[in-house]
Amino acid sequence: MDAMDAMTVDTRADERPDAPADAPADDPVERWHDAHAHEWDERMYQSPVGAAIREAELRAVLDHTGPLTGLRVLDAATGTGRFAGKFLEGGAKHVTGVDVAAKMLDRARARLGTLDPTGERFDLARTSIHELDLEDAAFDLVCSVGAIEHVAGEKKAIAELARVLRPGGRIILATASGHCVQRGLVRWLERRITGLPKHLHRREELAGWLDAAGVEMERASFCGVSRWRGLAVRIVVSGTKRA
Ligand SMILES: C[S@@+](CC[C@H](N)C(=O)[O-])C[C@H]1O[C@@H](n2cnc3c(N)ncnc32)[C@H](O)[C@@H]1O
Repeated sequence: MDAMDAMTVDTRADERPDAPADAPADDPVERWHDAHAHEWDERMYQSPVGAAIREAELRAVLDHTGPLTGLRVLDAATGTGRFAGKFLEGGAKHVTGVDVAAKMLDRARARLGTLDPTGERFDLARTSIHELDLEDAAFDLVCSVGAIEHVAGEKKAIAELARVLRPGGRIILATASGHCVQRGLVRWLERRITGLPKHLHRREELAGWLDAAGVEMERASFCGVSRWRGLAVRIVVSGTKRA
């Protein structure tokens, strides 16, 4: 196992029989998100640049979804439920949010509970995008924002996301852009701020992983403080699962 694999092994507290229920996670990605869940949304809007990137990403992703009415949607790595909430507001029939970080899921529960107090139109589960505890072909739309940049084994994660998508359904992935000319700076900032691994992805690479998972990539767009590909820090791709 190399150093990167070792950093991303999914060993959750509830899978360690001797660990107390609230023991910190072994996985640094989960541990970092759990530790910052209480201030997550506020922290993201602290700097004008951070806020601009987050808003641009929100608009770009929603531009890829198309009409949401009546859809069964999976928000994979939902965090505090930012996108899951938009999908509910957009008229989705049912939204499932999954994440590895229990405290992020607590915040998502609070957000979605205000939008759907009966709780009938959403559910949340703690599961990894590498091995989703979900049925095959259960969703019309699968969306994952901000997760595959932190995980090793993106090909496996994308195959898993495609597995739970029905044929003809749409998948949307938003991640850190490998086309950005300031890639070194982006990686340095991530190391300095979170200490987490940051994988930057290029359009062709994402298209290849989607293709291997049975998905035809149809569209890519770029966003951040600029939409020009060379300066955009985020890439959003979408496609349809082949029948
Ligand atoms: C940058 S946040 C994005 C949250 C949300 N999608 C959004 O855009 O607001 C990344 C989220 O991915 C989750 N995450 C990281 N690795 C994951 C994995 N392997 N499976 C599920 N969730 C994961 C983290 O816990 C965190 O909540």
